[in-house]
Amino acid sequence: MPEPLQKYRVPARVIHWIMAILILCIIPIGFLMVRAELERSTQNFLFITHKNVGTLLLVLFFVRAIYRWRRPPQLKPVELPKIQEFAAHATHIGLYALLLIMPLAGYVRVRAGGFPIEALDAMGIPSFVPRSEALAEFAKAVHYYGAYAFTALILMHIGAAAFHGLIRRDGIFTRMWPPVGKNS
Ligand code: HEM
Ligand code: HEM
Repeated sequence: MPEPLQKYRVPARVIHWIMAILILCIIPIGFLMVRAELERSTQNFLFITHKNVGTLLLVLFFVRAIYRWRRPPQLKPVELPKIQEFAAHATHIGLYALLLIMPLAGYVRVRAGGFPIEALDAMGIPSFVPRSEALAEFAKAVHYYGAYAFTALILMHIGAAAFHGLIRRDGIFTRMWPPVGKNS
């Protein structure tokens, strides 16, 4: 058996923080861009940013998931009450689920509605879903409700990370921080 590690491996930490930064930008952009009072040019800019960064996040999800599957974390256990361990595990599963569902629903909503995704169009990557108003409406609803569930889970996750990092200082926060640096 290899020695358990103090921290997540560097690739896992780097991907976690790149995705965290992008998500913490894309969610407020999403909520902002749907507001009717915005100027047309501002709204276009926000939509283009949202759709393309969102699509990048879908790719990053697969990079992250494949890396985790190939190199599962072998972390040194930290003594935690069972209920906290369960809550952390459940939150992480929920976060992974929404990390896939959100960009996928966004993609389907846009493509089934017949709209562009500029970066994919520039690379000549065709749509993988048929044009369908019903499918677009369904994906839109999933994306809409998912946005609130995702925001709630992320707030819980950040709250827990801050609690471990600032109050308990039990080594949970430093398993993921800093993004690069020695694993000892
Ligand atoms: C992790 C990825 C994503 C997150 C967290 C996210 C989050 C959000 C949020 C918070 C909203 C505002 C709530 C609403 O009114 O629906 C929104 C709206 C929207 N998002 Fe995303 N999004 C993601 C990926 C994508 C992708 C990949 C696309 C398309 C390629 C996309 C397309 C849209 C569109 C078109 C809207 C406007 C609402 C609608 O008409 O459906 N999103 N998104
Ligand atoms: C905003 C979007 C974020 C998402 C979607 C996200 C997602 C995740 C996921 C899925 C894990 C589990 C990793 C694994 O075991 O494979 C994780 C771990 C972790 N995240 Fe985040 N995260 C986000 C932001 C943050 C932020 C802002 C912080 C710090 C304030 C943070 C701190 C941590 C820590 C400390 C861990 C390790 C927890 C442990 O070892 O039990 N995350 N994150």
